[in-house]
Parts: sequence; C-alpha cells; structure tokens
Amino acid sequence: MTAIYSRILGTGSALPERVLTNADLEKLVDTSDEWIRTRTGIRQRHIAAEGETTGDLAFAAAQRALEAAGVKASELDLIVVGTTTPDLIFPSTACLVQHRLGANGCAAFDVNAACSGFVYALGVADKFIKSGQSKKVLVIGAETLTRMVDWGERETCVLFGDGAGAVVLEASPEPGIYTTCMHADGGYKELLWNPVGVSAGFTDEPNHGVRIRMAGREVFKVAVKTLDSLVEETLRAAGMEASQLDWLIPHQANLRIIEATAKRLNMSMDQVVVTVDQHANTSAGSVPLALDYAVRSGKVLRGQNLLLEAFGGGFTWASALLRY
Ligand code: ACO
Repeated sequence: MTAIYSRILGTGSALPERVLTNADLEKLVDTSDEWIRTRTGIRQRHIAAEGETTGDLAFAAAQRALEAAGVKASELDLIVVGTTTPDLIFPSTACLVQHRLGANGCAAFDVNAACSGFVYALGVADKFIKSGQSKKVLVIGAETLTRMVDWGERETCVLFGDGAGAVVLEASPEPGIYTTCMHADGGYKELLWNPVGVSAGFTDEPNHGVRIRMAGREVFKVAVKTLDSLVEETLRAAGMEASQLDWLIPHQANLRIIEATAKRLNMSMDQVVVTVDQHANTSAGSVPLALDYAVRSGKVLRGQNLLLEAFGGGFTWASALLRY
C-alpha cells in the first residue's frame, strides 16, 4: 500500500489594519522601543478593530489559502481551527468559518493548545488524512489575543498581537508532512494562563478578570529547553539530520528564543523565518502567518524541507517536519 501524505496546496493569512508600534506603547506604559526590541525583537503588532473577531481573520486567511490552493470550499471535508480566543463559547470558530465559506456539512472543530494551537491542529489534520478519513482539509491558526491584554501592564502588553494564517492540505502519494510531534504538561499551568472561564467563573476585575498572567522569565527558560529537545525528537522521528532542513519556521514569541533553537539546529538565521518584529506574538496565528509570509515572499520554495515548531500555555509544545 502506498503511503498517504498531507501536502500543503496553498497558504493564506490575514492581519488587522491597525498597527501599534513600540513608540505608541511608550505613551501607554513605562517602556521603551529599545527595551522591547532588545528583549523580544518586536517592533510593531497588529490590533483587531472593535467588532473584528478571530473568526473574521480566520475567514479572510482561509479564503486566501483556498484561492492559492485552487480548492473550492465545497471540496473540504474537514476544518480545524487552532485558537484560544474563539469568537463565541460555542459554536466553535471552525463552525462559524465553515458556514461563511459555504463548506456546510464537513466536519469542523477548534483545538485549544494556546500558542501551539496551529501546529496541534496541523497534527490532528494530518492524522485524519493519513487514516484515509479526509482528503482535503483546511487548517487555520487565528487569534485576537489583544482582547485579553491588560494595556496597563508593561510586562505583557508589549508582547502580543492579532492575526491569522491558514493552509489547505490534500491527501497525496507525494510528501508531504513527514512527522508531527505533540506534547503538553499541565503542571506548568500557572506560569502562563488566563484563569477565568465559564465553569471556573469570572471575577469583578476589569474585563471580568480576562487577562493574560505570565511569569516571563520562567516561561522563557522552559521554552528554550523544551524546544531544544522537541526539534531533536522531530528530526529523529523523521529519520533526518538538521543539515537536511531548508527552513525553520518557529513560533514567533521572542527573537531570543528563536535564535536559541536555530543555534541548537546549527542553522544560520538566514534559514529562519522571522516575523516577530512585524506581528509580535499572535499565539496560534504566528506559525501560519510566518509560513504564508515565507511562501508569498518567495523564500520557501516547492520541494524544500520545513521544520515548524511552537510552544505555549498549558504548557503545550508541538512540531511538524514537512516537504513543502
Ligand atoms: N518595558 C520596560 N521594562 C520592562 C518591561 C517593559 N515592557 N517589562 C518588564 N520590564 C522590566 C522588569 O520590571 C524588570 O525590571 P527590574 O530588573 O527592575 O525588576 C526588567 O525589565 C527585566 O525583566 P525580566 O522579566 O527579567 O526581563 P526578561 O529579560 O526576562 O524579558 C520577557 C522579559 C521579554 C517577557 C522574556 O522573559 C520573555 O520573552 N519570556 C517568554 C515569554 C513569552 O514569550 N510568552 C509568550 C507566550 S509563551 C510563548 O509563546 C513562548
């Protein structure tokens, strides 16, 4: 029996129009462009307009990915959305996007793995394709993370932005996704979390207590260490050497974390797709935004090997090694 791979047919992305620069943030909190750039690599981020939702960004990214893939929405048999900022509690953002695309009838669900959401969703979609269950799948990572940012807290408000990216996958005898890895450790929940919700309850703080809480320095340390072992595990699982990789497409949280992973892989920064300077941390949106930027700017070419990785709240961490 010939192996079935998930091949990326097309990519797309969407960003809100409004840009907030580091200079703009200097007017909101006691920070500086210099501090933000040297600690994180971020120069600006996009902020969703009032009323603009995760689903709006996901829909726009999906339309572009379908167009690039030459696939009609009616051909899809699965939509998976990685998000931690869904439009509604339910229906899922995947269901909302499905209806707007006119893909009614196919399976659709969200995956919540925080910043690893898109890579998790990609892994799930790959399993559906490999099992023969699905032939054409839309995978989206989309967030409006700034809706849970406290604009008075300098430790966190400088780090995040909004955006979405999408890919259309097709079952193919040609590679394709070689391997995906997914992990989580809920023991770290309090280092990066938003501890309110429908079941646990909300508080009478501003925004009902909906606010990102993060122990930045601790997150940084665990992220670097965990990503080191993740990329090694991924190469091992695919039976490949780091020297066979053409591009690293990492989660865009912090340039220093990205550089540490590149160093571990012995890859030059010329082989790393970096968009954190433009987008900041868009959580599940970050990897597909970076991928779409790399494809459309002509960096990533057909036949090249890409390593995608992400780390985020949960903690969760995940990777995919694929031939584009
Ligand atoms: N502007 C100016 N000063 C600041 C700011 C700011 N925006 N934020 C914090 N500071 C101050 C702190 O108060 C502290 O001052 P002190 O030394 O007088 O106490 C000083 O800067 C250093 O603070 P640290 O937290 O130690 O700075 P660090 O070098 O660790 O950088 C950062 C902080 C950027 C948050 C870093 O730890 C980081 O990126 N961590 C990873 C967190 C992350 O990326 N989370 C996103 C989700 S998880 C993920 O996606 C990987």
